[in-house]
Amino acid sequence: MAIYVNEETLTFHLTNRDVSYLFSVLPNGELTHLYYGKKLSHVADFSQLFYTEVKDNSCTEADAALSMDVIRQEYPSFSRSDFRLPAVQLTNKDGHRVSRFTYTGYEKVKGKTKLKGLPATYVESSEEADTLKVFLRDEVLEATLTLSYTIYQHHPVITRHVTLTNHHRDDLIINQMMSASLDFNHNQFDWLELAGSWARERHIKRTPLHAGIQNIQSTRGASSPQHNPFIALLRPETAEHVGEAYGFSLVYSGNFLAQMEVDHYDTTRVTMGINPFDFNWRLERDETFTTPEVVMVYSDQGLNKLSQVYHTLYRTRLARGVWRDKLRPVLINNWEATYFNFNEDKLLQMATEAKQLGVELFVLDDGWFKGRNSDTTSLGDWFVDEKKLPNGLRSLSEKIHGLGLQFGLWIEPEMISPKSELYHAHPDWVVGVNNRPNSPGRNQYVLDFSNKAVIDYIYHLIKERLTEANVDYVKWDMNRFMTEAGSVHLAPADQTSFRHRYILGVYRLYELLTTDFPNVLFESCAAGGARFDPGMLYYAPQGWTSDDTDALERVKIQYGTSLVYPASMMGAHVSAVPNHQTGRMTPIETRGVVAFSGMLGYELDPSQLSKEEKTIVQEQIRHYKQVQPVVQFGQMTRLISPFDDPLHASWQFVSQDETDVLVTYIQQQAQPNPAFRQLKLVGLKKNKAYTLVGTDSIFYGDQLMYHGLELDRYIDRSDAGDARGYLLHFKVQEETE
Ligand code: GLA
Repeated sequence: MAIYVNEETLTFHLTNRDVSYLFSVLPNGELTHLYYGKKLSHVADFSQLFYTEVKDNSCTEADAALSMDVIRQEYPSFSRSDFRLPAVQLTNKDGHRVSRFTYTGYEKVKGKTKLKGLPATYVESSEEADTLKVFLRDEVLEATLTLSYTIYQHHPVITRHVTLTNHHRDDLIINQMMSASLDFNHNQFDWLELAGSWARERHIKRTPLHAGIQNIQSTRGASSPQHNPFIALLRPETAEHVGEAYGFSLVYSGNFLAQMEVDHYDTTRVTMGINPFDFNWRLERDETFTTPEVVMVYSDQGLNKLSQVYHTLYRTRLARGVWRDKLRPVLINNWEATYFNFNEDKLLQMATEAKQLGVELFVLDDGWFKGRNSDTTSLGDWFVDEKKLPNGLRSLSEKIHGLGLQFGLWIEPEMISPKSELYHAHPDWVVGVNNRPNSPGRNQYVLDFSNKAVIDYIYHLIKERLTEANVDYVKWDMNRFMTEAGSVHLAPADQTSFRHRYILGVYRLYELLTTDFPNVLFESCAAGGARFDPGMLYYAPQGWTSDDTDALERVKIQYGTSLVYPASMMGAHVSAVPNHQTGRMTPIETRGVVAFSGMLGYELDPSQLSKEEKTIVQEQIRHYKQVQPVVQFGQMTRLISPFDDPLHASWQFVSQDETDVLVTYIQQQAQPNPAFRQLKLVGLKKNKAYTLVGTDSIFYGDQLMYHGLELDRYIDRSDAGDARGYLLHFKVQEETE
């Protein structure tokens, strides 16, 4: 890993074993992007990569024979000779929006610096990464920009973010400030995103780039299930195991924009950051604004490699705390078992039976606080409901602990019900604007987390409950998007900063609570996976992947989610049938097999299970605990996509020590007299012998990889039916003398 700086030409080259990233200072002091992709040998002179020719019809700069419209830029500013959309747009005291940032210097830092108030990837030792800071200044605005780049030593990863400081005595308004911008010299790409909706999160969509602008964004106040804050640019020939892929993942949980602009010379500008729509930020003298971080991954071995890089980085250098490296408990959650209708006896009965099945953690979901008998009431009143739990939370928790289970609690700290004591006491604590009624969502409003007093109040209340109940786990939910976005506590000129301030407030509360409760496992949730993003993963190592627990639907959701996020982040539960979201019947074995590819839990009433099902669940949990390290810490490879093949789906995990291979095979739909099917595994040791656990069959790694496993010899698919899931566990044979 190195950051080379040619002091004469002012060319910067960030490189490690796999990637190179190059940019340089132009004669007019602005920056030009030169290259991003597979590693280039470092040479003194990269001038052959420059392109500064002025085309006919171009406007040129006032003081240089350069047209910024033609130049591949590094962080384009606004309203001069470039007509593409900029990375940064600012308004000064005159209402003028022109900017021009020119190079003033650079600094190299060992390791990686923290982002103030924002989640970001990190290093554990300064040897793991190098950081380059490039300083730019706009003389007219009297403002300085710092572009920060970190390159990791052992991962093909470059992270970027930007800070802006206003030195002028008058305020400067930020209209747009993206975390990263990058101009590719061609448009030979498809772009891929994870799109969806509630209960259908993160489905893979791939489309060729076309002329003009294409983007995804969120305007909902959360990163959203509609579009995840991630895009990948793929060469047309790129597939799971071959070809170039560039990933851009934003460590942010609010409104974002990811945009590609293909211009009239077939170049592609990629920008990513806070959504400039409905966003302005007023910067007073000497104040600094920091953007969220973009994590860029380059792969020359297809999408799988890209995903594996994200998995390892996010699992080990984004997730934090003791639970990062600890095996997660198998949980039972009472939501689908009881909804709001429970009492202490019912919970204890569930917990007792769950314990017998091998469950390790009991999670009390929504409905435990004052008067919360439906979703119409009580959010904000974080006091125990004495009708349901007359002995209080502490007593319940003690009894659950007494059964030998850990105890977890659901909270939704960002929300308030209009029917609540909190709302009567503080109607001004609600997100909203003067003289307009709020639009309810799930019968609730959003609390104004741009107001410190609100966060402080909720913080103390939740802290009291978590302490009193001696919790081991927290499920932090967020069940509606933001409407009438504004705060009565903010000045008129600051209203457009509200959404970002809100997210900063959420991060602040997460930081406070995770610091106070370092041993508690936090799981993020937002009506399922509506805020399943890297920002959340920084605070909560686990997230509820989707409210949809139907096994077949989950195959797609988890497969799509795996493009970026590791299995250690995906909460995955076995629920009852008929499934509550789709009405579908699937065998309990299949539900188990699918949930095995995440952090396993159960979301059902164990007393409703038949004796036979109980035995199956007991066996599932015992088996899962054996293979959990392979799933939680191993390397996942996708084998057959449910988006491409309506009949099948498959993926595998290889353990860190490479001795265990766990293969999941799903028959989505049965076919009569099915054609032969082989499953080719990936990343095995060619010359090692592998036993298929539970059989006498022995295979060599090269046979499994190049010939493939003859599925029909090991699985009876012919009359198995729809929605059948199989787990195949291969183990490297011990060497014998
Ligand atoms: C959301 C969550 C569910 C459950 C309910 C409770 O929908 O995604 O898992 O916690 O809220 O109201």
